[in-house]
Order: sequence, then structure tokens, then C-alpha cells
Amino acid sequence: MYNNKDVKKIIESGMRWLSNNPPSMPAHTEELRDLLRFHENRYYVANDPVISDAEYDRLYKILEKFEQTHPQNITSDSPTQRVGAALIKDFPKVKHLVPMLSLENSYNAEDLVDWDRKARELSGMEIIEYCVEPKFDGAGISLVYISDLLNRGLTRGDGETGDDITPNIKRIKSVPLSAHFSEYGIEQIEIRGEVLLSKANFKIYNDKLGEEGLAPLANPRNAAAGSLRIKDTRIVAERNLEAFLYHISYVLASDDNKYGRVSDAHSKLLQMLWDLGFRSPVHEMKVVKGIEAVIKHIEGFEIKRDDLGYEIDGMVVKVNSIPLQEKLGMTSHHPRWAIAFKFKARQATSKLIEVQYQVGRTGAVTPVAKIEPVQVGGVTISSISIHNEDYIREKDLKLGDTILIERAGDVIPQIVKSIPDARTGKEKKIIFPTHCPVCGDELYKPEGEAVWRCTNINCKAQVLERIIHFVSKDAMDIRSLGQANVEKFYEWGMLKDIPGIYTMPLDDLLTREGYGEKSVTNLRQAIEQSKQQPLHRLIYALGIRYVGETTAKTLAQKVESIFELEGLSLQQLQEIEDVGEKVAASINAFFRNADNIAMLKKLERLGINMKVAEKIAHSGQFEGKTFLFTGTLHQMKRSEAEEMVEKHGGKILSGVSSKLNYLVVGEEAGSKLEKARKISSIKILSETDFLSLIHS
Ligand code: IVH
Repeated sequence: MYNNKDVKKIIESGMRWLSNNPPSMPAHTEELRDLLRFHENRYYVANDPVISDAEYDRLYKILEKFEQTHPQNITSDSPTQRVGAALIKDFPKVKHLVPMLSLENSYNAEDLVDWDRKARELSGMEIIEYCVEPKFDGAGISLVYISDLLNRGLTRGDGETGDDITPNIKRIKSVPLSAHFSEYGIEQIEIRGEVLLSKANFKIYNDKLGEEGLAPLANPRNAAAGSLRIKDTRIVAERNLEAFLYHISYVLASDDNKYGRVSDAHSKLLQMLWDLGFRSPVHEMKVVKGIEAVIKHIEGFEIKRDDLGYEIDGMVVKVNSIPLQEKLGMTSHHPRWAIAFKFKARQATSKLIEVQYQVGRTGAVTPVAKIEPVQVGGVTISSISIHNEDYIREKDLKLGDTILIERAGDVIPQIVKSIPDARTGKEKKIIFPTHCPVCGDELYKPEGEAVWRCTNINCKAQVLERIIHFVSKDAMDIRSLGQANVEKFYEWGMLKDIPGIYTMPLDDLLTREGYGEKSVTNLRQAIEQSKQQPLHRLIYALGIRYVGETTAKTLAQKVESIFELEGLSLQQLQEIEDVGEKVAASINAFFRNADNIAMLKKLERLGINMKVAEKIAHSGQFEGKTFLFTGTLHQMKRSEAEEMVEKHGGKILSGVSSKLNYLVVGEEAGSKLEKARKISSIKILSETDFLSLIHS
């Protein structure tokens, strides 16, 4: 039982394993496994780790090493056994113990009031106690445990039969491989839940697809469902899926007395699951009496929807008493004891009117669909990227088609699908151009790639996009130059390439309309200041294919000056963490190109910083510490503050969790601050506190 363990003792026991005098194997192997299970639970389920990742890894390695030399000693629920055969041949179809029904939907308070009235009439009760939970927006799963061991995991499938995806389920660290159900008098159990991809992990995944020139997925739900069906379990592990378990559909009790103690209320069963090491929504649920209280709670929760680390598409209201659930029973489609309340949709239908083609800085030609303007989740959308030719084919898109679009949280809107049933016969095939829409050169598509490219590096579109990228916020940050100015200056013949930014005759602007002393001085200053940007920004600004901000930072750490990258072989590049074959080839090609080197030399002569800043005396001051900034900062830009943290060895997190050490709060900080206040280990700093910490 994870929640009443003596954490101090457990930490001490971990230190004993890591000391010079560890407990002896095999007598204590199971103790070590339990220790690892405890820490997995703290990290992946409770989101509140009590040892460092490195210590966990060292403990894991001790067990792994022992099991490698004593394979006969391995148990099927050992933490090492999440890693089974890497490749799965197929997913056998298996019947669920109990069919997986879906829930009736409701969309407003009246629907809920109606539903409650029916439930009260049927049960003869005046007021019903409900348990209200988030409706997790992922992929449904069912898990079976027999004699305390995970026996299998299935997808929902058609509700009757699902696919056996057990090896992939084992890769989800918040799903225990074993749990002490026997202590609750349970011999066999089937549990239902949802596999999710957090918003943060979804972003990482989509960014990776983007860097490879592939189309992003429309929402984390599709990503989670797709991930469960991947046949290489190593890739499944990399996705960092999570699972919430929220329903018990079948129990074979070995001791009715013991099971009877928890089985009279749904909320008690969720607590039981939590105590057994599952991530059940005990911290997200609320038990209330009467439908009015349910409605009030749901209204409050919808407002907080965007603050959660994962997507939910509504709430589920469940009758809390299990005997009452049994009395209410089912219709042929739905249980009568539960109902889903759907939040406002973030999907809408529209019409695909026309496709325009944009040429990016690497020459990639991206089709963009112009659609009939439509509101999705409070934002009007009138154009939407359709990525590449394969995507158009896969989604079966035609001009004039009715399309379903979605804006999941803060994800860029995507087309979910076309609706062929709505076709009139007048729709037209989308014909991809054979020539660059800007310079007219023939387009080229390397084998095995999805993207057509214009290979004319002097193509106006590419030149402009390269300059726009160079000056952009996350690159050299010459914001006052911006897209509109770059385009104008190019038209006026003042700016032809990247070094040209630093040699433009800015005074000439004074003769043009709309440019005064002040704006020209600002521009001059911004350009001048950019010369001192740190090396990683310059590397990122060059717009080398596949080199995003993270890779640029990694590269900048490996060299003293940018010209050292020129000397690195393909193999040396690949030895750098996170640099794969494709990325290495792209970097190599960039630095083998004489024009690129000439451009860098020119930039150097113009005074642009090409070197890593001198290591600051305190460089390791924040080693192992995590920071997050919220609200408006006044004494520095957020990107500068984040850079300071990284320079001092710290890391920036994307959200508030117990892994966060410092939240730095600017003006008008909102929900992040509220959330951080509830986690006592997070230190909350003002901007001034932060600066004094840096200078201490
Ligand atoms: S209870 C027999 N609780 O929503 C009832 N379902 O159509 C079992 N879902 O198929 C479902 N969050 O995949 C339940 N907290 C939650 C849920 C939830 C998401 C999904 C589930 C179900 C669908 C309802």
C-alpha cells in the first residue's frame, strides 16, 4: 500500500543499496524490486518523486545486472520486465470479460437534471450521491489481473472484442505489473481506464514529426490510440504514455468479507485502486449529493480545463453507491447509473475552398487549405496547413469537400478528416504543382520523403523566409525588423541576404514614408544588440534543416566557436546526444557548403558573436534545479531569464508539478501560481528574488 509507507525508511533503504555494503542477493532481490516499484509509483502515479532519476537508475541497474546473471531468479512482475520482446507480430483479438459499453452523453444542465430525475424515480430516492470525474480524452483500455499479476491488457475495440496489447501496456510506467488485490479478497479483476499522452509529451512528439517534415497529429487522443498499436515496444516506451484507471467491470472475489469493505461505493473502489498503486482519479474526483451540486462542480471544472496537463473532453457523473448502480442497471446501450457531460466541442465542420502553396526557407512547398471561416473553441479559423501531398491523399481531401477540423487545447488546428458522405459530385481533385509557385523552377522530391522542394536557393520565397527566420524571436530576436519590414526592404533592394541585415543603409529609410528618426534608431539598436546573441541562437538562426532550438543548444555546448562544427565528421556529429543520422547529415551538408561558410565568415567580420560566452563563475549553481516563469517580467525578457537559468546549469519546465523547484512570478500571474501554492516543495520567487538568487 503506497500511501502509508514510511518514506524516510524507504529512502534510507535505497541509500543502503547504493552504499559500499548493500544487502545480499538473492535473499533481498524482492526487497529491491519493491523499492523500485515504490519509486515508480511516486514518480509516475503520485507525480511526487522522492529520489533523483540518477539514483533510481543506479538502483535499477543493480537489479538488472543481478537478473542478467541469474535469469532463473526473474519474476514476471519485476520492474525490469516492462521490457519484453521488442517487436510484436500481431495483436490477437480477445473478448472482454464484460462488454465495454459507452456512456450516454449530455450537453447542458437540463440534460443532467432530466437524467437525475429518471434515476431518482427508478430508485425511489429523494437525493442521490454522485461521484464526478474528468472524462479523460484518450484511448480506452481494459486490464485483467489474476492472482495479483497483470494478465493482459486490451484495447476497447468494438466494445465486445479488443486487441491484446499487453506488451505495450507493460511499457506504461503508471500501470503496475502486479498489485496486492488478494489483500482485498480479490482473485481476478477487470479494470477499465484510459491511456493518455500528456499535452507536454504530445508537443514533444509533434515537434519531432515537424522536424522530420512529417505532418503533426491533430490531438493527443489520436496520438495515444496510435501509440498503443505500434509493433515496436521501444517506440511505445519513448512516447511516455500515461494511464488513468476509473472503473471496475468484473471481480471474482476470493473473500467476500474483505471485498465487501470497499465494494459498496465507487469512490472507495477508486481509493482502493490508488492504494494498490494505480493512477485512479482520486485527486480529480468529487463526491457530492444531488444534481445541483454536480452541475456547480462541472461548471467550475470546465474553466480549469486548460490548466490540466492532459486533455479532457468533459466530465463523467456516476452514482456513487454500487448497490444503487446495480439496481439501476443498464439499457441495451448504456449503464443508467452514469452519464458523460461533454464540454463545448473544439471541433467544427467547414468547407475546403482552395489550396495555396507556400515555400519555406528550406524550399519545402507546403499546401495550405483556405476554408470557409469557422469558429472552433472561440477562435475563427480560415486557413489550415495540409502539410504535404501524402497527407492530402491519406485524408482523402478534395476541393469543395466538407471537412472536420479540430483545435485541441493549444495545438495548431488540424483537419481530422474529410466527410466523403457529404459530397455532391462537384468536388475536384487537388493537383499538386510541379513547379515552384514563386520562382517557377521545377520541384523535386527526394525518394522516401513526403515533401516537394524548390531547389533554387536564390528563390525569393526561400531568401525571405531565411531572413525572417534569422531575425525571429527565438533566433537572433531582431523583432523590430519583422516579416513586414524584411519583405519591404527586399522589394526596395536594401536587403538581399542574411549578412545584408548588418550592412543595410538604414539612413535611406528616413526618406520613406512611415520611417522616422525614432523607428530607425530602434531598428539600428536592435540589429546592433543582436550581434551579441549567444552562439546557440546563431546556430538556430541559420535555419539548418532538423536543427531546432534544442539541437542548437546541444551543438553550442560541444564547441567553442561555430567554425568547429565545420570540422566535425558525420560520425562525430552522430556521437552527440539526440543527433541522429538525418540530423548529422543535414548539419554536415550545411558546413560542407562553401557559400554557407563564406556567409559565416562575413557575419564574423561584421562583428556577430561566433563563440560560446565565457563560462560564468557560477555556471553550475542551478545544477539539477528546475524553474518556470509565469506572468509578465519587467526587468528582463522571459527568454533572457530562461537563458540565465540554463547558463547556470538549471532546467526550464513547461508546467507546474512536484518536479518544479522554483516558480518565478511576474505581474498578473494566473493559474500556475495558484497551482504552485498547493505544492509545498515549490519555492515561489519574485523577479527581484530571482535576480538576487542569480547574483548570490
Ligand atoms: S466510466 C460502464 N469514467 O468515455 C462505464 N469512462 O462513452 C465505463 N471515459 O468508453 C466508463 N473518462 O473510454 C468512465 N472517468 C471516466 C472516463 C470514461 C473517459 C471514456 C471511456 C468510455 C467513454 C464514454
